[in-house]
Amino acid sequence: MHANISTSPAAARGFLQWAACNKTTGSGSGSGSGSSTYNEGRTQSKKRIPLTVAQREFLSSALRVNQAGELAATLIYTAQTPPVVSREPHLRPLMRHMYEQEAAHFSTFNALIAKHRVRPTALYPVWSLLASGLGWTTGVMGREAAMACTEAVETEIGDHYNAQIRRLLEMVTEWETQGYDVGGEFKDLVVTLRRIRDEELEHLDHAVEHDAKKAEPYWLLTGVIRAGCRGAIWVSERV
Ligand SMILES: [Fe+2]
Ligand SMILES: [Fe+2]
Repeated sequence: MHANISTSPAAARGFLQWAACNKTTGSGSGSGSGSSTYNEGRTQSKKRIPLTVAQREFLSSALRVNQAGELAATLIYTAQTPPVVSREPHLRPLMRHMYEQEAAHFSTFNALIAKHRVRPTALYPVWSLLASGLGWTTGVMGREAAMACTEAVETEIGDHYNAQIRRLLEMVTEWETQGYDVGGEFKDLVVTLRRIRDEELEHLDHAVEHDAKKAEPYWLLTGVIRAGCRGAIWVSERV
């Protein structure tokens, strides 16, 4: 539990150097809440609060599933763009814009996974194949189906990121209520997830603006893709 406070570096090993620590540094600088530029000399005098096993598992699985999802997103657009753009060249800038944002999301989670030594999903090849297949199939079906695919995926991903952000904010609130400073790295993660969530919802808006709802058969297509996303999220959080 959170009463379990430790100064041991091992207690915070490998994950978000410190998530929260007490405010009494003896240096009078305890008001530096959220700063990611604490120097080591100061943090050594603070008592760290280690992440619980459940919190650590939540963060590991969150980073793992996000990385897998962003990989899938880049592959969907890579496969979708040629057939869509060959028929509707005016969509090239939009497709490129969405791809580039997905590629940036993917590299963000690649860096976080490496930094915090989180195991990537073991199903990388499976998701790669399915995402490319989904992108190619909906791209060949036409603009409306491609946009319906984006609408369905981003609806699920938006909900997924929102759930993660809520959970992280609950952790922040709990620590702050107990009188701890929350680490800058932890707060940076919340900011990153919010930015990425907003970009995913921007893709959703683009998809609707470009006739996602005119896809045939819209309900079947989006229903199947949304169920597939939920299944992939559930599995990637665990495997
Ligand atoms: Fe993304
Ligand atoms: Fe996206």
